[in-house]
Amino acid sequence: MSLAVNDMQDPVIARAAAALEAGQLVAFPTETVYGLGADAENPAAVASIYAAKGRPQDHPVIVHVAPGASLDYWTTEIPPQARQLADAFWPGPLTMILKRAPNIPDAVSGGQDTVGIRCPSHPVAIALLQAFKHGKGGVAAPSANKFGHVSPTTAQHVRDEFGDDPRLASVLDGGQSDVGIESTIVDLSRLATHGPVLLRPGHISAEAIAAVIDQVPARPDAAAPRASGTLESHYAPHTPVAMQDTATLANTLARLATAGRKVALIHYSALPAVHAAVQLPATPAGFAHALYAALRTMDSTGADLILVEAPPQEGAWLGVNDRLRRAAHGSSGIVHGLINDTPAF
Ligand code: TXA
Ligand code: MG
Repeated sequence: MSLAVNDMQDPVIARAAAALEAGQLVAFPTETVYGLGADAENPAAVASIYAAKGRPQDHPVIVHVAPGASLDYWTTEIPPQARQLADAFWPGPLTMILKRAPNIPDAVSGGQDTVGIRCPSHPVAIALLQAFKHGKGGVAAPSANKFGHVSPTTAQHVRDEFGDDPRLASVLDGGQSDVGIESTIVDLSRLATHGPVLLRPGHISAEAIAAVIDQVPARPDAAAPRASGTLESHYAPHTPVAMQDTATLANTLARLATAGRKVALIHYSALPAVHAAVQLPATPAGFAHALYAALRTMDSTGADLILVEAPPQEGAWLGVNDRLRRAAHGSSGIVHGLINDTPAF
């Protein structure tokens, strides 16, 4: 059964909250991507997230809290900048890394002494967080996809990832995620020595953060906390992915056609017809909103290659370019190979 936001009746939310309280998994919509949630204070429940995703044990998960939740319950050594950023951007697509409070289980932090925390703005996520433990709980939730795969931006994407996995009590349907790429992650746990560090770019830009705390977040250093979204290869479909700038694309498309290759194209400029294509808005927000659904759709077309028209290198495109680079990482050299190797038929 599929439920739109407006149809989301309290009993559906209450049942999902009760499932979380009973240690089961619930997938839920957020404004960024769908999350695979478990009670953050139940180590066995958190362990089943890792098992369902096939995710390495030492990768920490983000704790989602209701609006108005106490940062002091979850974190310690809280700098004023954390409260300023929470006031400015929560509920919303910003995750802060802070020192973990002693009562928070190891399981959510992959053994690190920090915790990632965010308050999402999607009304269904907020309703769930308010119903769960009377709004005082935390829901540990990574993106609701198998490890390394494209994040889900619809309830159907989640069902496609997990099928009828018995660990998943329910998938709440809140429509297509608005932002479309994962939250911005800023590390505030080492302010004194490293300043704020941008671990993952997203809809909330480094400039927007700097406007609030008067300091531009730095790029990650070697000692920065681990984040799986910062692995070189991540967010990847099964079909190889390559990016090319607009000027090179038309020529590449012609050569791949000559070599008998089936190309699925994700683009924003007008380009010649190919095996399959989806044209996305030529704005960072519009492109991000539709990107993961486009990657999934193009992945199911039986193409030899997903070719993406590379967006501009400007700052506003940083989050989109970051995800595309990781989606394409495992496929370097693929275009050359497909043009020069003998076609498979
Ligand atoms: O938008 C989002 O952030 C979505 C929705 C569901 O909220 N969640 C999400 O979770 O993208 P996940 O697990 O797929 O990515 C979270 C990233 C991971 O790269 C993880 O390693 C990092 O956050 N992370 C979580 N806690 C951390 C910590 N204590 N230190 C460093 N990185 C952390
Ligand atoms: Mg993820």
